[in-house]
Amino acid sequence: MIRIILIGYMGAGKTTVGKALAADLGVTFYDLDWYITMRYRRSVSEIFAERGEEGFRDLEQRMLHEVAEFENVVVSCGGGTPCFFDNMDYMNSLADTVYLKAEPEVLTKHLLMGKGRRPLIEGKTPEELEDYIKQTLVAREPFYTKAKYSIDVSLLDTAVKVQESVRLIRELLKV
Ligand code: S3P
Repeated sequence: MIRIILIGYMGAGKTTVGKALAADLGVTFYDLDWYITMRYRRSVSEIFAERGEEGFRDLEQRMLHEVAEFENVVVSCGGGTPCFFDNMDYMNSLADTVYLKAEPEVLTKHLLMGKGRRPLIEGKTPEELEDYIKQTLVAREPFYTKAKYSIDVSLLDTAVKVQESVRLIRELLKV
């Protein structure tokens, strides 16, 4: 049975790598933010606006507990998911967890290019964004590094990044 959960900061490529990994393994892919959006019929930004971050984290934990029980899946969770409640220990108890690690400069570049709306970083200038990433990454790394496996995605050339990441993860997890 395959159950792999990808974690890491916003913009690390969890969704892109997760989709490709699931396709390569022939299992189903779930993106936790997408799952929350489907179940509550609200975007992540709307949930933040209506319930605040605390409300979002409650829903996120509840939905994680649904998705992480599925079998033969690759799940990508939100950048903050591992850092609240006992989520990281919970994920480790059920799945092979993989931290997609990237340098702040790489994350900043990806997030500036990305079109997706992310309430925590909306409206920030590129300089403010990089500072924010550096600060929050320091606070989040102790949670991220609890993952069973970790791969550095910032070292990979972008053209081959996704397939190379898939290959590396399969090699590491022996799946
Ligand atoms: C968040 C990351 C987002 C989303 C929400 C909060 C975070 O997911 O869950 O905006 O706290 O880092 P992505 O990492 O998929 O962007």
